[in-house]
Formats: sequence, C-alpha cells, structure tokens
Amino acid sequence: MKAQEILSKMTLEEKIYHLVQMTTMTYLKTDGTNIVTGPDSTMKLDKEYIYDVGTLLNLVGAQTMIDAQTNFLNGSKRKVPPVFMQDVIHGHRTLYPINLGVAASFDPKLAHDVAKMAAKEASLDGVGVTFAPMVDLVRDPRWGRVMESSGEDPYLNSQMAKATVEGYQGDMGKYNIAACVKHFAAYGAAEAGRDYNTVDVSERMLREYYLPSYKAAVDAGVKMVMTAFNIVDSVPCSGNKWLVKDVLRGEWGFDGVVISDYSAFEEMIDHGYCEDKKECAYRAMEATSDIEMMSPCYANHLKELVEEGKISVEQIDAAVLRVLKLKEELGVLDNPYRSVNVEEAKRVQVGPEHRAIARYAAEESAVLLKNNFILPLSKDIKSVAVIGPNADTGAIHGDWPCGGKVDETITVLEGVKNIVGDRAVYAKGCNIEYDSTDESMIDEAVEVAREADAVILCLGEHQSYSGEGNCRTNIEIPRVQYKLLDKILEVNKNVVVALFTGRPLAISELDEKAPAILNMWMPGTEAGNATANLIFGNANPSGKITMTFPRSLGQVPIYYNAFNTGRPKLPEYDFNRVRFTSSYLDSPNSPLYPFGYGLSYTEFEYSDLKLSADTLTRGGKIIASAKIKNVGKYKGKEAVQFYIHDLFGSVVRPVKELKGFEKIELDVGEEKTVEFEITEETLKFWTKDMKFEAENGKFDVFIGKSSACKPFATFELVD
Ligand code: NOJ
Repeated sequence: MKAQEILSKMTLEEKIYHLVQMTTMTYLKTDGTNIVTGPDSTMKLDKEYIYDVGTLLNLVGAQTMIDAQTNFLNGSKRKVPPVFMQDVIHGHRTLYPINLGVAASFDPKLAHDVAKMAAKEASLDGVGVTFAPMVDLVRDPRWGRVMESSGEDPYLNSQMAKATVEGYQGDMGKYNIAACVKHFAAYGAAEAGRDYNTVDVSERMLREYYLPSYKAAVDAGVKMVMTAFNIVDSVPCSGNKWLVKDVLRGEWGFDGVVISDYSAFEEMIDHGYCEDKKECAYRAMEATSDIEMMSPCYANHLKELVEEGKISVEQIDAAVLRVLKLKEELGVLDNPYRSVNVEEAKRVQVGPEHRAIARYAAEESAVLLKNNFILPLSKDIKSVAVIGPNADTGAIHGDWPCGGKVDETITVLEGVKNIVGDRAVYAKGCNIEYDSTDESMIDEAVEVAREADAVILCLGEHQSYSGEGNCRTNIEIPRVQYKLLDKILEVNKNVVVALFTGRPLAISELDEKAPAILNMWMPGTEAGNATANLIFGNANPSGKITMTFPRSLGQVPIYYNAFNTGRPKLPEYDFNRVRFTSSYLDSPNSPLYPFGYGLSYTEFEYSDLKLSADTLTRGGKIIASAKIKNVGKYKGKEAVQFYIHDLFGSVVRPVKELKGFEKIELDVGEEKTVEFEITEETLKFWTKDMKFEAENGKFDVFIGKSSACKPFATFELVD
C-alpha cells in the first residue's frame, strides 16, 4: 500500500512535519519570504522541514493551487504532496444559502445536492478537503455561527449531516472532496452565545442532543473530524482524550483524520490546561489528534517527547498513516494536482447550471413568516418600490463566502427588475449598520413608496453580523429600520418585508406591523432572483425554521424540545399558581415562531391522523399516518413533521422530539398520505444507566405543520 510504503521511508522529523498544517500562501513565493515574515513566521518552524508539511489551508483558484503545489514539490526532497483544505461552507464560488437556510428546506436531498455542486467547484480549484459540515447543535441566536448550523434539533441535524457528507464525498471521485465534520464537540453550546466561550454540558446532554449529528457524519463515512475550540467537561477538546480517543475512535470506530481548529493546540495554554506548548503537544497526541492547524506544538516538541519516552514513534506513525491514507484515497499521492483544471473551473464555476441550483436552494430555504393575503404580488403590477439597505447590494449572499463574490450576487433590485423590468423603482431608505441612526434617506424612500402599488422592503442584518467571531447582544433590527417601515406604512399599506439575516432575529414588532414577512436568510449568489421569484409567485415558499425565533432576547435560550419542569405554566392555572410557575412577568413562554414553523401561499389540511396499533412490542413496528390535502389556490410543498413525547422515563424526557419528517409536493386539490414508522429504535434515549435504550411505557404521537402541533394518539411500548 502506497501510504504505508511512504511512511516506512520517512524520518521522524518528516513524520512530525507531516502533521503540521500551514497556509497555502507560505508556498506561493519561492524565495522563502512568506515563511520569514508571514503569519507562519511566529511558528518557528525548522526551515529544513518546511517542505515536509502535510496539509495546506485556504485556497481559492486553480492557478494558485498549481503554483503552490509546484513550488512545494520543487522545494521538497521527499516529495510527498500536500493536500489542500478549505472552508467550503455554503458554496465554493457559487454560493447557496447559509446552512441554517438550507436546513429550513427540510430537504436532505437539497443539502446533498448543494454540497455536491460546491464539491465540484472546489475540486476544480484543487481543493481536497472542506472543513464542513458544521453540525453543532445551537440554541442561542446571539452566536454568530448559527448561520453555519442546521439548528436546534438532533434528529434533523443528523439527517442534514449525513446528506451533506454524502454530497461532498460521493464515491470520492474526481469531482468529490473529503468532508471534515466540525466542531467536535458541543461548540454550539458556548455560554451566552459568545464565540469561543465556555461550554458546560452534562454527559447526558452531550450524548442525547449534541453528539448525534457528529455520529451521523461518522456513520456516513466522513473522512475527517475537527475538534472544537471549547472545553468539554472542563478539558479543551483538542486534548480531550475521553472525547476523541475513547468516544470518537473507541466507541464510534472512527479511523479517519482528526484535525485541530486554528491554533487550538496552543490555546490549551490560555485555557489554563497546559503549562507550555510541549504539554499541549503531549495532550493532543495522547488524545489521538492528528493534524495541528496553524500552531507549532507538534513541530517544536514532538521529537523531544519521543526522546523522553513520553510519546512513542508508533503513536506518531499511526497519525501520519491516517493522513497519508486520506491522501491516497483522494488520489493525491498519484497525482498531486488532483482535479485542478483552470479552463474547466472557469467554465463550471458560477455557471448557469450552478446558479440554477443555488436559486432553487434559496427558494426552498426561504420561510414565509407572515402573510396577510398580500403575497404573492401580481407580475402585472403597475409599479413596485424596492426599498431598504439590503435592496441593492450583493452583500446578502452570506458570511463565510469562500470564493463567492458580492459583484456576482444578484441583488433584490436586479431580481425584481428581471421580472417587472423598469416598473421597479429603488430607494435606499437607510443604512444597514446596526448602530446607524441616520434618518436622512427616509423622506426620499417615502416618496418612492407613495407612488408605487406595492413596496418590497429589504431589511435585516448585514451579512458580516453573523459567522465566526460575529456575535451580538442585540438580535433586533435597528430602530432606524423601524422608523423607515413606519413612515412607509403611512403612505402605502402594501408592504412586503424581505428579511435578510444570518440568525433568528427578535422581530415581534415587525410581526405586529408588517403585512407580510418573507425570511430569506442570507440566500447566496442567486439571492435577488430567488427573492423576486418568491414574491411574484414563480415559486411558493415552503421553508420552515429549524431554530426557534424568540419574542425577545430575554427568552433565550428557547427551543422546542425542552423539559416540562415541575411547574409548567398552564393556561388554566389561577393567578397564584401562574406566579409560581416557570414563566415571565412580561412575556409569554411561547416563542414568536416555533421550530418547524413556516407558511405557504396555499393551505394544507391535515386529516385522518391515526396509529396502526396502540401497542408496540420490541422488535415490532407500528405506523403513524396522516392525510394532507392542498386546499388552497397554489401548488405547494409541505414539510410534514412527526414528533413523539415519551411521557415518563428513568430520566425526564422532552415535551416533544422530532422523529421524522417528509417534504411533499401537492397540486391544488391533491391529497397524499404520509406514514412514519415507529420501532424500538425510534424511542431510544440516553437512560439512567447511561445507555441508548427504549424503556417500556406510554408515548404521545404528533403529526403536524410545526412543533406547535397537538398530540393525536398514545401508544405503549411493551416487552
Ligand atoms: C476557525 C474555525 O472555527 C473553523 O471552523 C475553520 O474551519 C478554521 N478556522 C479554518 O479556517
């Protein structure tokens, strides 16, 4: 085997450097100046081994890859080609919607297809691995990285994780790239939604809520896992032996590559876990972490640790072999340039085929939050005002754009013009900055609105207000945007708000005031066309939110699969009981929009909800089913959701758990029956005995449009 053969020829130093990850930039100059003065200079790497580094980070551009690889191989004695890794998060050159948007499609096939499209574009630039998908379960919209997640539900997250991994990796052919699931583990639980902050979850929470999506990625054959910046049980993930060696590799059988997050080995010193870089290297190796991204603990200290007998050569060999095997599988050992192709990249990237996928994805991801019979607008409309700070900008494709470009992104104004031509009139109205108080543009916008038959008002966040390091303590839209809305409503009631956001926002006031709200998230390269298609009825919204929208930030964390508590707030309680229940003085407990919520231009009627039996035996199965009929005026899609409630357990159970969903399309008047199978597997949870098991007892069953649906039957699991 090639990998084994290469390993057998490597010196200890070469092996150690094979575990180091550097930036591609380092190899773009052949005179070594980047190494001396660039970001890598602080790493104090040994110049003699700089061409023995195993993997490179960040790359967009086929020619860049060819240059860097050529320079690398020219400089290297051993000539083991590095593999290029890149954050292909929601597209490579063509961007599809942010991942929280794609999840709202409730369509794993879509998640698969967009990953496949991104993989093709990336492979043509020579990328071998993407640092995606991020499958961290999230409950706090302040955290900027919720945009990269698929939301708050372990089941849905697992389905999306599997589909995305399969989309990127396929059969590991020419146009596929390896996926790296991240951030292992529980990075999404950062306290107060502040990036890199402390995580404190019990093992039960970890097992039941946070770990399943990483496990699903591993079961789907993901090639790499990235450890998280945070601590789990007070130990940084980079050096967390229990998490990586025992759970990931031991229990789950993962034998692929584990990589650190950016400089995270070294950060174990700041965490107060390791005294120095040498200890960082020791802890990371002990945890069976393989690649160190952008910090020098391995490079500077592994040899010393071997000489002192603290780390064995076998440990290092095992890590290097995992990296080499990945390269072998990617074909890099035979062809260092892999699928890079300057001409084909030019032809394929951001080409019509990929734009079409991106547009469809944006349409499927959008969530209609409110509609007072105003949408869709007629294409025959005499004039339409397109107003707002997000109306004429390409900066709505979403953060983590990889190689996506603002000037290649279709603005809403352009998209609307593509449908109604010069019957669209534009005014900016106000600036997008969250601290902007400038009202000087409002009057002009009001005049434009006064003359129009309808207004498309593009509000929300700037795309740079979400993503890594972009957290917020205020998740409302700025006052100046409300001022603009109020003034426009005084002259024109036909206002449709197109909302652009990287996170659930607290928009109770918007919900009260706006006649219609179409949440577009950050919709990618085809943003404007997708928005216009939805607004003018070329497409019918079918997305449903996978992360709860709170009424106000004060309710956060708020998620549907919570526990009942000993004092739930029930409407029939008298005043005294209400006071001493789990509730607020100044807000209902319910969210503004619950998990799974989203409207359509048509209406779906649920009927004939039934269970095939009221007893389930172990090894047996029963079927929950419902008829869904399109009783409205438009063809449309519905994400039918199936939940259970385990009424009593050896430990308390959530009030509702998503256990299945199916997205169906129905013509006007059409009806379909949707079925969900229930087996012992469906009912398993992390019991008092710390095992995934189903316990005998009663379960309520729900099928509905959102997590707010009511139970329709009960069954019992018996031996
Ligand atoms: C830090 C981020 O946390 C991680 O998600 C990303 O993959 C790396 N930087 C590399 O860019």
